[in-house]
Amino acid sequence: MGQKITVLDFQAKCDKGEKIAIVTAYDYAMAMAVDAACVDAILVGDSLNMTMLGRENTLSATLDEMLHHTAAVVKGTKNAMVIGDMPFLTYQLGPEQALENAGAFLTEAGAQAVKLEWCPRASEITQFLVENGVPVMGHLGFTPQQINRFGGYHQQGKDKASAALLLKEAKALEAAGAFGIVLELIPADIAKKITNSVSIPTIGIGAGPDCDGQVQVLHDLLGLMPDFHPKHAKAYLQLHESIRDAVAQYVSEVAAGQFKPKG
Ligand code: KIV
Repeated sequence: MGQKITVLDFQAKCDKGEKIAIVTAYDYAMAMAVDAACVDAILVGDSLNMTMLGRENTLSATLDEMLHHTAAVVKGTKNAMVIGDMPFLTYQLGPEQALENAGAFLTEAGAQAVKLEWCPRASEITQFLVENGVPVMGHLGFTPQQINRFGGYHQQGKDKASAALLLKEAKALEAAGAFGIVLELIPADIAKKITNSVSIPTIGIGAGPDCDGQVQVLHDLLGLMPDFHPKHAKAYLQLHESIRDAVAQYVSEVAAGQFKPKG
């Protein structure tokens, strides 16, 4: 068994110009598979509210659900860093609330770090968590927990003022001690500028090729969501169809009285 990847490894990779690959996973079996593929980190994203629980957006994911899935992923992971995603309204109230809930990701679920989306007190919260031993990854640009404010899945940072604000937020997170920043759905040139302006790794999703790393939702990579194909995703498999066809074959073998287990 190799050593678990740490925040120091993240920074070392970034300093050497090596790209960081992160993928989401939400359960034990998938965690084993993506860990064996040598990803640097597994994000137990609150996207599980849609991919695993069939809900409309990330807003209703609860802390207990996130801890439950994170613990399963930790069990299936040998080498990758496991990052738990803090759900809506479990940190925005301030540092004390955030530490109590972020702490549960480390103590109850066994994650090594948490991710939290930008909010008015994000840098203060990040600094408090980091000083208390909880590594934090920030998240800027299209932050899905603010979908109602953004009015949909829209690219952020398109005009000069909002691009300048993103850069300011990235520098604030760096100063607060974040070990990395997810940049979601922002123009590639703005992501590049932020990447060149901070020393911590930037991890893009829909933010162009120049970030220090990329993060993808596993269900998008595997083609598991038949009706959802975001532009920034690349499907390496069409697993929904493969599963459907395999199970249909099983159903027809059973129906025809031809099903014979191997053993
Ligand atoms: O919840 C999630 O999966 C995420 C990634 C898309 C970055 O936050």
